[in-house]
Amino acid sequence: MTTLTIKEMENLACRNLEQSYFDYYQGGAEDEITLGRNCSDFDAIKLRPRMLVDVSSVDMAVDLWGEKLPMPILIAPTAFHCLAHPEGELASARAAASVSTIMTLSTLANHSIEEVAAAETQEGKRARLWFQLYVYKDREITRDLLARARQAGVRAIVLTVDSPRLGKRPRDCKNGFHLPAHLSARNLERFFLQNISGNSGKNALADYIASLYDLSLSFAELEWIVAEAGLPVLVKGILRGDDARKALAAGAAGIIVSNHGGRQLDTAISSIEALEEVCRAVPETTVLMDGGIRRGTDILKALALGARAVLVGRPVLWGLAWQGESGVRSVLSTLQEELLLSMQLAGVASLKDVERDLVKSPFFAGGQGERL
Ligand code: GLV
Repeated sequence: MTTLTIKEMENLACRNLEQSYFDYYQGGAEDEITLGRNCSDFDAIKLRPRMLVDVSSVDMAVDLWGEKLPMPILIAPTAFHCLAHPEGELASARAAASVSTIMTLSTLANHSIEEVAAAETQEGKRARLWFQLYVYKDREITRDLLARARQAGVRAIVLTVDSPRLGKRPRDCKNGFHLPAHLSARNLERFFLQNISGNSGKNALADYIASLYDLSLSFAELEWIVAEAGLPVLVKGILRGDDARKALAAGAAGIIVSNHGGRQLDTAISSIEALEEVCRAVPETTVLMDGGIRRGTDILKALALGARAVLVGRPVLWGLAWQGESGVRSVLSTLQEELLLSMQLAGVASLKDVERDLVKSPFFAGGQGERL
């Protein structure tokens, strides 16, 4: 068990990553205001711990659409894990399997759905997978990805709705971000759309997305995707209560509050600030969140503000770049251990006891300010 913090793992990862790949992972949109806010807004929320509570045994288990997990921490979808480590998504999936959590596999993974679904730990464990979907203009691609996800035993679809185009990311523009020739987006091979290499000096991913993703995606298409998926569809990228209601009306099974790690619309609201509005708008719905989680206390705050569980993106990439599968395992175990400690110190023995009054948030004064 490592004693390193996530921040320290990021510093170690940096040494193993080529600068342009580190920039791609670490960077955000434009002036990186939202990127920073995702973390600093957690710091602005204060915990209100309870004392004299029996915390000799703590229950962190959570049930998500029938999946029982020992902790409310999942792997968020992030693209191109092979930039961090040669085993890429296979290593991340094995790490998820070894701590019995869910990994969300990106459409833009370097390994295919089938390869990742077959990845096993030394003990023969396989990760439970969710599949993150980007919607291409060609509907056949969506049909194909959904069918393959079902066939590979994926448990849910995570539809990303915040990326009709890629946000403007100055670091990637400056670096002319592209994949090296030996890597590709293998899920797209059968449509001959796997290459994001090229060396035009521009951000190749931005060009790829601009030419292929469906800019007209709307709530009507969401209904179509829900009907086509045959799996629960979780809508990721929601930052407003009214959008959460519309997504549910279109058939979504759940909501993931996210601003894409501050990589899309800069100056957008932080995920943790948006979370409370969304949870108030759809109180009966399972809401997850990602963005800015670096500590167990961050997770506890997200749970107190209504999230059922959180997803972590960049920290997983830091673990992967630092030490491959075991680095990802360290990231997940560190967060799990920190959450356990935070719960014990805050006087909560079970996730059921994590309520709104555990935090004082500057974003919703005293729980009164409805801003829907
Ligand atoms: C891809 O999803 C990215 O944010 O780069």
